[in-house]
Amino acid sequence: MKATARAHTNIALIKYWGKRNESLILPANSNLSVTLDGFSTETTVHFQEDLKKDTFFLNEQNVEGNDLGKVAVFLDKVRALSGKEIYAQVQSVNHVPTAAGFASSASGLAALAAASAKAIGLSLNDKELSKLARQGSGSACRSIYGGFVEWQMGEREDGADSFAVQVADKSHWDIRIAAVVLSKTMKKVSSREGMRRTVETSPFYAGWLEQTPKDLQEIKQAIADKDFEKMGSIAEANCLRMHATTLGANPPFTYWQDTTMRVMQTVQHLREQGIPAFFTIDAGPNVKVLYLPEDEDKVKKRLQSIEGVEDIIVSKPGSGISYL
Ligand code: PMV
Repeated sequence: MKATARAHTNIALIKYWGKRNESLILPANSNLSVTLDGFSTETTVHFQEDLKKDTFFLNEQNVEGNDLGKVAVFLDKVRALSGKEIYAQVQSVNHVPTAAGFASSASGLAALAAASAKAIGLSLNDKELSKLARQGSGSACRSIYGGFVEWQMGEREDGADSFAVQVADKSHWDIRIAAVVLSKTMKKVSSREGMRRTVETSPFYAGWLEQTPKDLQEIKQAIADKDFEKMGSIAEANCLRMHATTLGANPPFTYWQDTTMRVMQTVQHLREQGIPAFFTIDAGPNVKVLYLPEDEDKVKKRLQSIEGVEDIIVSKPGSGISYL
């Protein structure tokens, strides 16, 4: 009863921002991401009759407390699905360049879902696996697939129709995504808390819900057409709208830091010089920059010269779940 799975993290081009159901993790809007080949998690789950509780090792360190609790709560769902009352040893390794501040719930929960389901003997198809991973962390449901991935919000109260599907595989389009690592980051508001506060208190949230389905429609067309300028400008605008909702919340907040804004301005300057580059930002201060392979040298050089930028980690569209 042992299995190992690898999952890559993903970056949303159309954000998941706000839940329609907190406990089942059902989103208020459909959203779309690209899976990144540069960041992955490898997880081994070993169910054993003699264990009295679940244990969790992350990068070979024994983890207790809250983070172990999250793993155990997730394994409870897997146990409930299989009807087997048996505990597991979980060993995860994050292949994220050190000190990057990119610890990813998406790759972590996707790998945990795949490894635990296989180890306990459930044979789930991708759609079922996506629904399972969603219940660990929303964005994890997209990391089941490689390439460009849409999380369809669904309509049902029980979440049966809320899962991700692949829009285009990784070979469809050779683009680059640079993760810009900041030397100092302070994440104060988790994505869970940030979404909740925004949904409950921000008058701008209604505008977000109105615009995002249009962004999603258009970006899917841009991806199908491989229209980079169109794809990038929709992604950047959607990111700015998501972050605008946080400024309207009560109390207001922002994930941006001074270096975040310097990176955003640099990307805009690159465009003024004729280089198609676009940014997007999740629930934290780090920026991801989208560009085409032929512009790699120029883009990297400019990003590296920004004060407060520590490192640039370049990804291509990556693959979905694999078993090792
Ligand atoms: O899945 P979570 O709870 O880590 O939330 C992810 C939220 C954003 O990163 C801001 C957007 C997204 O779609 O990934």
